[in-house]
Amino acid sequence: MAIVLMDNRLFVLHTQNTTYAMGVDERGVLRHLYYGAKIDRAADFMHALTHPIELWENGSDQVMEEFSSFGCLRNKETSLKIAYADRTRDFRYRLTNCETAGDELILTLRDEEYAFVVRLHYRVDEHHDIIRRWVELQNDGDAPVRVDRIFSAEIALAGEGYQVLNVSGVWAMEQQLHADPITAGKKVYESMAGCTGFSNQPWFAAYRQADERAGDVTFGCLAYTGNFKVIAECVPYHYLNVTLGISDTDFAMPLAPGAAFVTPEVYLGFTREGLDGMSRMMHAFEHDELMPVARRDVPQPVLYNSWYATEFDVFGEEQERLADKAAEIGVEMFVIDDGWFGQRHSDRAGLGDWYVNPEKFPQGLGHLIDHVHSLGMQFGLWIEPEMVNPDSDLYRAHPDWVYRYGKRPIIMGRNQYALNLTKPEVVDYLIATFDALLSSYAIDYIKWDMNRFMAEALDDAGNDGMVWYNHSRGFMRLARALRQRHPNMSFEACAGGGARVNAETLSLFDQFWPSDNTNPLDRCRIQEGYTMMYPAKYMRAWITDDSRLSTSFRARCAMCGALGIGSNLNRLSEKELAELKEEIALYKRIRDTVQFGRLYRLRRLETNSAQIWQYVRGGQCVVITLVDHAAERLAPVCLQGLEPQALYQVGEGERAYVVSGAYLMNCGLITAGNRDRSGTVLILNRVEGA
Ligand code: GLA
Repeated sequence: MAIVLMDNRLFVLHTQNTTYAMGVDERGVLRHLYYGAKIDRAADFMHALTHPIELWENGSDQVMEEFSSFGCLRNKETSLKIAYADRTRDFRYRLTNCETAGDELILTLRDEEYAFVVRLHYRVDEHHDIIRRWVELQNDGDAPVRVDRIFSAEIALAGEGYQVLNVSGVWAMEQQLHADPITAGKKVYESMAGCTGFSNQPWFAAYRQADERAGDVTFGCLAYTGNFKVIAECVPYHYLNVTLGISDTDFAMPLAPGAAFVTPEVYLGFTREGLDGMSRMMHAFEHDELMPVARRDVPQPVLYNSWYATEFDVFGEEQERLADKAAEIGVEMFVIDDGWFGQRHSDRAGLGDWYVNPEKFPQGLGHLIDHVHSLGMQFGLWIEPEMVNPDSDLYRAHPDWVYRYGKRPIIMGRNQYALNLTKPEVVDYLIATFDALLSSYAIDYIKWDMNRFMAEALDDAGNDGMVWYNHSRGFMRLARALRQRHPNMSFEACAGGGARVNAETLSLFDQFWPSDNTNPLDRCRIQEGYTMMYPAKYMRAWITDDSRLSTSFRARCAMCGALGIGSNLNRLSEKELAELKEEIALYKRIRDTVQFGRLYRLRRLETNSAQIWQYVRGGQCVVITLVDHAAERLAPVCLQGLEPQALYQVGEGERAYVVSGAYLMNCGLITAGNRDRSGTVLILNRVEGA
């Protein structure tokens, strides 16, 4: 049974391979007892619950809690901070109800003196080994309550010596992995960008001894596309406490009498198979449970984006010629980026005016789309809905639609202002505008960009403590409406690169643009961090021009995800075009395995002279090796995730050979030649008998 309740005080959740236990002790505290490898016998945890703990006066920090609140002599970071109308500022609760509904457990904590209720929700996904957690607040009183912090989950890990993994990044160098030991004090990962931003990610992985391949890892991933906060704290009473949810920096939520609030979800997991095990669990869960169903099993087409070829000088006829060249080399989707609309001749004007520029497209956009379709390709278009240039018709008509502070000049970012999405009429206008655009043309794909962060954060309803939250909800309402009205269209989320990569956006979009940086060696590091939580299918990766690096090296780095081409096809020689054509053909042979397979990051570029990634799906295994310095000769690498008894044909043609899965996993194979900056794709196919 997935959920076991004992004596209305012990609660044990089982997935296939993990157990999560909590219970109410004699003082009424809901204690966290265990999260880790499976322990079938739920009754064992009664011992942990009744085992007397000698408490000091400052007792609350001494025990691991399931949901802690500011106050009551606590010194650690907590999940909740509220203020009642009479200025009482703590939450003292009794567990008043526990109920299950299918795979969900709901624990109700009610304040002992005030009519305020917290419901802790746990949904057990046995198959994926994931526990979904979220919190619901309800003000049952007749006076408003101010909520200064409400996180989605709190996870305590017993013992000391943990490291916590997250990323650190900037524009064009996103997703740089950092594992930091938390031996004293605390570490905070946060965004104040109004979206996920570049700096950190809304997830954590905590472990004592783990690498890609093995070791116990506990992790949590927040599904929220606004300002988030993750705090990992070494509580001196021998445990690591991790809290995560909506950032409470510049947050204050008035909860009116009768009102309720539901937090975003956190997906929690535990694995013994190291960081790769964590990634594989999340990739499978995201595919099966989060991704938009209409496109979830559709492979990403090879796309060509003409941005680097023409930038803002977009003209219908030239785009048609580019489309001809793209079709010739095997591209499946042709995309026009920025510069097709309004008076958009540079990034200084036109943003907000979403009509096709008639001088740039004298025959209309439909003419180009028909041409692209006649070549057998899909058609895609770039938009940036949430922004406006001051030099635009939209801004001239609605100067009050942007965020601004009183008399101050508005802070400019990339010559544009952020539209105030806390105004319902702005979101309604954007839904109508983009719905009309998407309905007027036979568009197959949208690249949805967002190129500046919010600076002046003022909520339309005067609720400034909610402005960041309300802004992110405005974005979600807009995205959801367009998705619902155009269910078969493919949407890509981009934010000046990877500032909008998160598990909530993943539930409405079909792919992400991880970074504006397409240099292969930088990309290896970005992709390493990116795939910790998000799948290769969602990782758009372009081949772009760089005469210092071979086509195959650039291409094979991009093949680690969903391949795209950003090269200026007008400038490429016939030889280079032929090379691209060959690389695209190769990618089409491995694409299903790369996009839907299980990923094993056998070697990291950061710690080796090469990156080696392996993907396995059914009987096919693909190994992509990117060598930086061949001087350090590559040792054989042991593959993973194959069937030991099965036979695999390694490579193709005359030099192909057949060996067993056991050989490949234990003796290993050399995956690459001896050249600096070279990329190799090795295809292994399971074969019968021999
Ligand atoms: C951002 C994106 C780029 C491109 C430009 C267009 O920088 O990240 O890929 O779309 O905008 O202005």
